[in-house]
Amino acid sequence: MSDIENLERDITSKINAAENEAALEAVRVAALGKKGVVSERMKTIGKMTPEERKEMGPALNGLKIRVTEAIEAKKAALEELALDARLASEKLDVTLPPPDLPAGKIHPVSQVFEEIAAIFSAMGFDIAEGPDIEDDFHNFTALNFPPDHPAREMHDTFFFEPKEDGSRQVLRTHTSPVQIRTMMSRKPPIRIIIPGRTFRCDSDQTHTPMFHQVEGLVIDRESHMGHLKGTLEAFAKAFFEVDNVGTRFRPHFFPFTEPSAEMDVQYERVGNEVRFGQGVDWMEILGCGMVHPSVLRNCGLDPDEYQGFAFGMGVDRLAMLKYGIPDLRDFFAADARWLEHYGFDPLDQPNLATGLSR
Ligand code: DAH
Repeated sequence: MSDIENLERDITSKINAAENEAALEAVRVAALGKKGVVSERMKTIGKMTPEERKEMGPALNGLKIRVTEAIEAKKAALEELALDARLASEKLDVTLPPPDLPAGKIHPVSQVFEEIAAIFSAMGFDIAEGPDIEDDFHNFTALNFPPDHPAREMHDTFFFEPKEDGSRQVLRTHTSPVQIRTMMSRKPPIRIIIPGRTFRCDSDQTHTPMFHQVEGLVIDRESHMGHLKGTLEAFAKAFFEVDNVGTRFRPHFFPFTEPSAEMDVQYERVGNEVRFGQGVDWMEILGCGMVHPSVLRNCGLDPDEYQGFAFGMGVDRLAMLKYGIPDLRDFFAADARWLEHYGFDPLDQPNLATGLSR
């Protein structure tokens, strides 16, 4: 075998062995670069006799051309391989579900807030909010709690240290002070619900020092007890997701409403489960009544001109009842396993069209 054939075989095997473009470029430089083996051999042509040149010239030229072509072919093959690898790594099957669904669940309290908001929004209510830290006027006095009235004691209020003038701020014991804030800042007609945190010094299986309420307030010139009843019955049916639920309005006392009532809903206990809209038992779920004329007056509204109704419900208890959650304290234990079990899918926003708690 001639030494040109040997050289070609050697270079060709190096070209075939090159695994990437950088390795191939090294082979190219070693063969065809200025000081490459093929280039060095080409330089010897000038020193050859005419006979030698006649034979070696075409042979070396042929070598150079074949090596050049082999390198180009290998380069194209390597580029294609690189493209295939990239396409494979970037492949996306758009028919598959998203690989990383958002982690985390919606807390049952947030879920129930959203459900209640969806129901009352559909009835034309707005949402209003107020501060967690209140003064005595908004939390008690304007709501017609007389000074030293035992009802103030009923609430197990958290008081702040007295200020210099002797007044003490409180952690609001209910969402009712936002009724006052709304009536003092907005002209009727008013139709709002008020979701929020509330605080009382109390802790057992069904009470926590911080809990949640939704308040409702309707003020205009003609809303009466019949509207109150119809609104709350419609709410109970929608919330418990049943076609019919018996309701009962029992006379009660709240300083800020007259008359006042508690609303009970019909239910039946089946094993550990509570089923609403069937059975012969009654469960209290909220307080309500016609806004007391003194409360209207305290907010600068003339009770001969304006009237309306209000209601307030405990969200945590409604969540426990609706979703069969036995202990309220677990709501605030921040246990991820509990939330995984009792929580809701973030993409399932409650609404009346597709179902509240699907
Ligand atoms: N604020 C009351 C409570 O926390 C609940 C309540 C009862 C609110 C009757 C109302 C109402 O607006 O009319 O116990």
